[in-house]
Amino acid sequence: MAALLVALTMTQHALADVEFRHALDDSALDLAPIKGEEFTDAVKSFHKDGVNPYNGNADAVATGEAQFEDHCQACHGAGATGGMGPSLVDGVYVNSRANTDVGMFEIIHSGASGAMRSFAERGVAQDQMLKIIAYIHSLKK
Ligand code: HEC
Repeated sequence: MAALLVALTMTQHALADVEFRHALDDSALDLAPIKGEEFTDAVKSFHKDGVNPYNGNADAVATGEAQFEDHCQACHGAGATGGMGPSLVDGVYVNSRANTDVGMFEIIHSGASGAMRSFAERGVAQDQMLKIIAYIHSLKK
């Protein structure tokens, strides 16, 4: 039994090398797929090494831009220059967690304080989140 548990733990470790945390309370973040979601290779690879494979990919950035307009622009402004929510392109994040792709993903997935709610709960797939992040990076000078 103990050996089985060790084996199980090791398998889990191999599947998810990065530990994703909830942006509000640092609890373990549940990355289970939402209804109908199938993890893409990009998402699987991101779970393993925390590197966003879409950064710098023009097609992904274009899709991310459309997703940003649908889901984020109302609060973060056109071009993410800020509005009701903070600017995402001024080089200073209120929440220092946003300085890494893992942290930004955590904020989008789990939600942060106030109006910044969970986009996993709003039906945004993790692949879309990675493309939105790639778009946000493409805006920085
Ligand atoms: C209903 C308004 C609203 C929407 C929609 C929204 N946000 Fe936010 N967002 C906020 C607010 C308000 C904050 C500041 C929360 C805080 O300080 O904890 C925030 C914070 C953030 C941060 C952290 C920035 C920092 O400087 O700390 C990131 C990254 C972010 N949002 C990304 C997104 C993305 C990507 C989307 C779309 C998928 C999105 N937000 C949609 C209101 C919104």
